[in-house]
Amino acid sequence: DLPPRVRVYEVGPRDGLQNEKTAVPTEVKAEFIRRLAGAGLTTVEATAFVHPKWVPQLADAEELYPRLADLRGVALPVLVPNERGLERAIALGARRIAVFGSATETFSRRNLNRTIAESLAMFEPVIARAKAAGIHVRGYLSMCFGDPWEGPVPIHQAVRVARQLRELGCDELSLGDTIGVATPGHVLSLLAELNEEGVPTSVLGVHFHDTYGQALANTYAALEHGVTTVDASAGGLGGCPYAKSATGNLATEDLVWMLDGLGIDTGVDLARLTAASVWLAERLGRPSPSRTVRALSHK
Ligand code: HMG
Ligand code: MG
Repeated sequence: DLPPRVRVYEVGPRDGLQNEKTAVPTEVKAEFIRRLAGAGLTTVEATAFVHPKWVPQLADAEELYPRLADLRGVALPVLVPNERGLERAIALGARRIAVFGSATETFSRRNLNRTIAESLAMFEPVIARAKAAGIHVRGYLSMCFGDPWEGPVPIHQAVRVARQLRELGCDELSLGDTIGVATPGHVLSLLAELNEEGVPTSVLGVHFHDTYGQALANTYAALEHGVTTVDASAGGLGGCPYAKSATGNLATEDLVWMLDGLGIDTGVDLARLTAASVWLAERLGRPSPSRTVRALSHK
């Protein structure tokens, strides 16, 4: 059975923009987030408190975050890899953070300069301090299905790190198909194995990149399994600077088109969302790769 309602977890301003080569002005980012909120999105991942040399595009987090202070009714989670990042996020009043681990050793080193074990040791005090301060913690798990350097990722390997993130106290987990290689059967196998190993579907979200055009099919499979949190990026922006061959996330418009058609409530106004993506695409100087954005904006 499909769920009656889905929480769309918008990642465009973070996962989408982090991959843009040319610096996007802070006021454009702030306006983009406002337009996304205006379209009815209630969770918008705003930025990342990572090392500015690693992700230069998001080096303006201190300038951006305070500009969003008056946005009401919208959760604005931020990425935080370590205690330095947590301090920066707390100083600006963030109430939701996300740590980000990897199911593979190679990506863990490339993305965090740490082995998986070292990354978990880095997250432990972050999660403990955040939870003590009443901050909600999401745990991303990248490379759940395949890794550009290691190839297919065994399910037990992803399950092991997912369980470790849960044991550290993550309130929710987001299963990342960082390079977009997953197919629906693989998604269902991973979800079933996670349930077997004590990770309930209620804490799981899915995070698909659309490299091979499988993101919507994978999402549908996850919905049928009972997942109700789906990550997506407005206009299909994105990729990951530390994972070659990663392209944009599932486009939020493509997702909302499918969910609207299924009668699943999201609270998102597709016309306003499309307008926000077209507005940003004009500023970035190239069209959105989302099929739905193209179809709706050429009418
Ligand atoms: P490191 O070089 O090992 O850092 O990087 P370090 O701990 O050795 O510290 C070195 C210096 O950096 C120190 O300064 C720290 O203070 C400073 P110094 O004492 O030398 O002057 N520093 C910081 N400064 C500002 N903010 C910080 C911070 N941390 C340390 N937070 C580190 C380790 C984790 C910092 C680095 O690897 C990093 O920033 N990585 C981020 C990579 C990233 O953002 N990747 C993209 C997001 S993940 C993703 O997109 C996947 C996802 O979408 C899901 C999916 O699709 O699978 C989530
Ligand atoms: Mg991603």
